[in-house]
Amino acid sequence: CIDIAPLYKDTGHFTYDPGFGSTASTKSAITYIDGDQGILMYRGYPIEQLAEKSSFLEVAYLLLNGELPNKEQFAGFENDITHHTMMHESQRNFFQGFHHDAHPMAMLAASVASLSAFYHEDLDVDNADDRKLAAIRLIAKMPTIAAACYRYSIGWPFRYPRNNLEYVNRFLHMMFEVPSEPLEMKPVVAKALDLLFILHADHEQNASTSTVRLVGSTGANPYASIAAGITALWGPAHGGANEAVLKMLEEIGTPDKVETAVKRAKDKNDNFRLMGFGHRVYKNFDPRAKIIREMCHKVLEELGVNDPLLDVAMKLEEAALKDDYFVERKLYPNVDFYSGIIYKALGIPTEMFTVMFAIARTAGWIAHWIEQHETPGSRIGRPRQLYVGSDTRNYVGMDKRK
Ligand code: ACO
Repeated sequence: CIDIAPLYKDTGHFTYDPGFGSTASTKSAITYIDGDQGILMYRGYPIEQLAEKSSFLEVAYLLLNGELPNKEQFAGFENDITHHTMMHESQRNFFQGFHHDAHPMAMLAASVASLSAFYHEDLDVDNADDRKLAAIRLIAKMPTIAAACYRYSIGWPFRYPRNNLEYVNRFLHMMFEVPSEPLEMKPVVAKALDLLFILHADHEQNASTSTVRLVGSTGANPYASIAAGITALWGPAHGGANEAVLKMLEEIGTPDKVETAVKRAKDKNDNFRLMGFGHRVYKNFDPRAKIIREMCHKVLEELGVNDPLLDVAMKLEEAALKDDYFVERKLYPNVDFYSGIIYKALGIPTEMFTVMFAIARTAGWIAHWIEQHETPGSRIGRPRQLYVGSDTRNYVGMDKRK
């Protein structure tokens, strides 16, 4: 806490906390993290239990409503979601304006923002029914829009959502041409994708969720708020890390090059970092990484994939975990270290990895946006700054400037 009263006579004290490492911006009852113990809970339920026993849609319900649904409540929620999976036909035309090789995240952010142009009649942020409808629409349409982003980027026609399929299989069906043995029919594929969606569904006040809340605090509509979250997620220090991990593993190429990579990551004159390592909050281990690691092996085994990148990943993990630099700084593999290898094995293209993350995180983003609107006395987010610029000086005409 720095006393900057001499600089800001009117405001007295406030904290200077670059990167918000120790500032709580809000109270929230959604997700709990204990970074030292490696604990993550959604609404009080340990992530390990949800990963083992639950499904993404059930978790989405839990995040939104605070309680696990009974059979009837879940059937109603699933029905609502299924009812809203279609994109508006005009939104299909919207895609035609994108450059053919646009990054799917660019198209996703723009397409989600455009939802407020399609559903502007139900955008009263103070109306609980409108808020709920927006949540349903977003969770339902996200896979449809995501698959459209991918198919547009490779020049394939869009596929309509097949509503007799469940959430993840519906997405897989929209993504891919029917292969000889449809991916959506392989239980391990659906299970792995569902698990990844559960693990990525929420993570309290991370950069993208804080962005959603900051934008939401202005009274902006839910689609605009979530679109802002998507753009924040895209960065390689956040959700973009899963794409960056795979590119890094490919760049390293073989296990014998791991040592050089670790050396480079420690060199402060080199910008290279081990992507998928480190976390602002987890200083012990990322509990999601443990679960994903196990699933990664299962997926590769069951699909009969022999991916040499897994050998590189294992060697890298081993090397970093016994290296003083990484141990001292508590840099452990995070959730994104293994997710890329799974996505690759499932046939999801690299540039879609962060889109996959966005599909899942939509549940958390909209739960936070709703919580914010249901909390009495919520204020507009307005961080301050520590001014380090010039003192007062007088304007000099251009002809007199040096
Ligand atoms: N490789 C090498 N060194 C690292 C790494 C890394 N991946 N991560 C942190 N460090 C070092 C820093 O250089 C710094 O060293 P120093 O104390 O000698 O200056 C120290 O560890 C602390 O790092 P910060 O950047 O201050 O930690 P911060 O909490 O701000 O950043 C972050 C966390 C962004 C996750 C960082 O660890 C990182 O860039 N990791 C790689 C990207 C990544 O995997 N992101 C995904 C995060 S999880 C998610 O969003 C789902």
